[in-house]
Amino acid sequence: MSLESRIINSLKTLLDPLSHQDIVTGGVLQGLQVTEWGNVSFILDINTQYMNEGIKLKEKAETLVSKIPGVKDVKVILTAQRKAPAPRSLKKEVPGIKHIVVLASGKGGVGKSTTAVNLACALHKMGLSVGILDCDVYGPSLPRLLGVNEKPTSDDGKIINPLEAYGLKCMSMGFMMDEKAPAIWRGPMVQSAVQQMLHQVKWGALDFLIVDLPPGTGDVQLTLAQSVLLSGAIIVSTPQDLALIDARKALEMFVKVDVPILGLVENMSFFLCPHCSGRSEIFEHGGVHRQALSLNLPLLAEIPLHMSIRETSEKGTPLVYSMPTSGEALLYGKLAKHVLSILYK
Ligand SMILES: Nc1ncnc2c1ncn2[C@@H]1O[C@H](COP(=O)(O)OP(=O)(O)OP(=O)(O)O)[C@@H](O)[C@H]1O
Ligand SMILES: [Mg+2]
Repeated sequence: MSLESRIINSLKTLLDPLSHQDIVTGGVLQGLQVTEWGNVSFILDINTQYMNEGIKLKEKAETLVSKIPGVKDVKVILTAQRKAPAPRSLKKEVPGIKHIVVLASGKGGVGKSTTAVNLACALHKMGLSVGILDCDVYGPSLPRLLGVNEKPTSDDGKIINPLEAYGLKCMSMGFMMDEKAPAIWRGPMVQSAVQQMLHQVKWGALDFLIVDLPPGTGDVQLTLAQSVLLSGAIIVSTPQDLALIDARKALEMFVKVDVPILGLVENMSFFLCPHCSGRSEIFEHGGVHRQALSLNLPLLAEIPLHMSIRETSEKGTPLVYSMPTSGEALLYGKLAKHVLSILYK
C-alpha cells in the first residue's frame, strides 16, 4: 500500500467535530501532498464554530501521521473556509448554450486568457459555434487579444449584442469600461455584472461558451460557480511550485461548489527557441503533470513558452488563426479535441 493510502487510512480514524463523519469522507481533509522523501502536508478545513476542537484535531492528525513509517515531516494547515455548496437547483442554464467551460488559475499571469482565446478559436475551427466571455472585470484582456474594442450595441436597450471576431461571439467588461478608469468593484457589483454578461447578452445558440476568469478564487468565480450550470473548469498553471500550490486552491474551490474539473493545462511548460527550435526546460517542466497524476485528473495540454504565442496575442491575432500550421497551434487543436472527448464521451 502506498504511503499516501496509509496516511488516508489513518486519518479516516479521526472524526469531524461537526458532522461526526470521518475527516476524509466529510471533506475536512484537503490538499494532501506526499513527496517521495516522506514530507507530508495537508489542510484540515473545519467549521469556524468549532475552532477549538479544530486545533485539537490538527494536533491529533499531526501525531497520528508522524508515527506512520516512511513519514519524515508533517505540516498541517487549519482553515475554516468551508461554505455549504449551492444546491444544484439554484444553478441555472443559459438558454441556447450547450457547454460553459471556465478557465481558471490560482496565480495571475499564467496564461489563462491566452489559452482561453486559442482554445475558443480551435473549437471554432472544428466547426463548432463558440462564444468567449471575458469575466476578468479587474483586468479584461479580450479586447487586446482579439483586437476588438467597440461599444456593443443593443436593439432594445436591455439585451446586448455581442461583438464578433474570428468567428467567435465575444463579450468583455472591457468593451463597456473606459480603459483608463480604474476598475473598483465591490462584491454585489461583480455579481450583477457577471449575471448581465451571461443572461443579458444575445449569445444565441452556442456549442461552447469559453469563460476567461480573473486569477484566484474571488467573487467572480464564486458567482459563476454557484449560479450557473458549468460543464467544467480547466485549471491553467505554469510548472513552478508556487503556481501549482495556487492552482490547487483554485481547483479545490471549484470542487467545493460542485463544478467538475475537466483537467489541467501546463502553460509555459518549456521554452522553445524561435531561432534554433531548441527546447529548454527552464521551469522544471512536468510539475503540472505530476499534480494531475496525484489528483487523478487529465493533463489536457502542455503548451511551450514561445515568442509567437506572446507576439500574436499582443497583435490581437490569435495564433490558432494567424499561424495555423505551427506546432503551437496544433497543440491548441489537441487541447480542444481533449476537451471535446471529455464532454462528449
Ligand atoms: N505559452 C506562452 N508563451 C509565451 N508567452 C505567453 C504564453 N502564455 C502566455 N504568454 C504571455 O504571458 C502574459 C500573460 O498571459 P495571459 O494574459 O494570458 O495570462 P493570464 O493568466 O490571463 O493573466 P491574468 O491573471 O492577469 O489574467 C501575456 O503577455 C501573454 O502573451
Ligand atoms: Mg487573463
